[in-house]
Amino acid sequence: MKEIEISTKTTQSIIRCGKGAFEAYAPAYKDKQTFIVTDSNVFGYYRHLLWRTFGDRTPIYILPAGESSKTFRYLREILQKMIDEGMRRNGYVIAVGGGVVGDIAGLAASLYMRGIHLVQIPTTLLAQVDSSVGGKTAIDCKNIKNVIGSFYQPEEVIVDPVFLETLPDREIRCGLGEIIKYGALDKDIYSKLTENEARLKDPAFLEDITYSCINHKANVVRLDERETTGLRKTLNLGHTTGHAFELYYRKKSHGEFVLIGMYYELYIAEKHGVCGGRYAENLKKLILKVIKKAPAYEDVGKAAAMAKYDKKNAQSMRISMVVPGVEGKSAELTLGMDEYIAEIEECAAHIREGK
Ligand SMILES: NC(=O)c1ccc[n+]([C@@H]2O[C@H](COP(=O)([O-])OP(=O)(O)OC[C@H]3O[C@@H](n4cnc5c(N)ncnc54)[C@H](O)[C@@H]3O)[C@@H](O)[C@H]2O)c1
Repeated sequence: MKEIEISTKTTQSIIRCGKGAFEAYAPAYKDKQTFIVTDSNVFGYYRHLLWRTFGDRTPIYILPAGESSKTFRYLREILQKMIDEGMRRNGYVIAVGGGVVGDIAGLAASLYMRGIHLVQIPTTLLAQVDSSVGGKTAIDCKNIKNVIGSFYQPEEVIVDPVFLETLPDREIRCGLGEIIKYGALDKDIYSKLTENEARLKDPAFLEDITYSCINHKANVVRLDERETTGLRKTLNLGHTTGHAFELYYRKKSHGEFVLIGMYYELYIAEKHGVCGGRYAENLKKLILKVIKKAPAYEDVGKAAAMAKYDKKNAQSMRISMVVPGVEGKSAELTLGMDEYIAEIEECAAHIREGK
């Protein structure tokens, strides 16, 4: 088992990773006042474990599974139930689930009595490698992803691969989306990925790479917790187009859209000369190992236009994105809206033509 600490000026967060982490650290909360937030799928698999670990009288709020629960309606319901249950300021919100549960439970914890203790227990690969760490919380609103949220560090994150045993293959692929993103930001992670291409879904490989990704994120968050210096923005690599497509097409999950977004943005990065050669080809190969084929959407221009809502844009009608650069480094590109849409359409045409 490994530990990573994130200390910032105001907060301290400890991340415990590895097999057995849940059994070793979760029972410490049994004697505390706890409020569990989870979703319907996770509750279905793990309710007995949760009752056994936290006590069968601990209140549990069960979200309907899926991104459409990251809304005001459910945030309000969570907060109201916390009031009804008499949660005190020294109580703990325990988020047990994927990124959706973690994001909304984190926001609720940050709002309730101006902030109560938060523990993240991520149960998807995506949440383990990325969303449970670093303290970003959010809900979606008016068709805009993560537009209402806060920075609020969990006191503890318990990352146990045992939860991945029930995770559908599709969700493993989503987690690989964020892992490949880290590969484009970190030379060591890139090497591990290219050396282990044939065993990307192997549990031992996933446990090792999860730790590497969390370590990378922790190093970034320590230096730029609130995304003020630009460093933390690099973690959004591929997300500008990924989020735009996610808003427009909806059918796939966040992690799949991150991979598709990365694929399209790689095309833009190559076109602008910031990424290229064998390295760009290898990144594409890694992406296609997970999604098989990048979709060549017909109405892709309309989907790309949704990028106008991206939080990274400093000026209206200019799209700012973080794309792969040279190995281990990202680059930032800012394009006019029309140019961005034209290049996304060009990429779709290339895919259609099998180039
Ligand atoms: N806060 C951040 O820094 C950050 C970073 C990346 C992504 N996110 C957010 O994370 C969300 C995506 O997270 P996600 O991919 O985990 O989605 P998710 O939470 O919807 O989980 C995916 C699916 O897996 C199911 N599931 C969860 N754990 C399971 C388990 N152990 N066994 C079986 N099924 C299980 C869920 O019920 C759901 O159906 C998005 O809303 C995204 O915006 C946040």
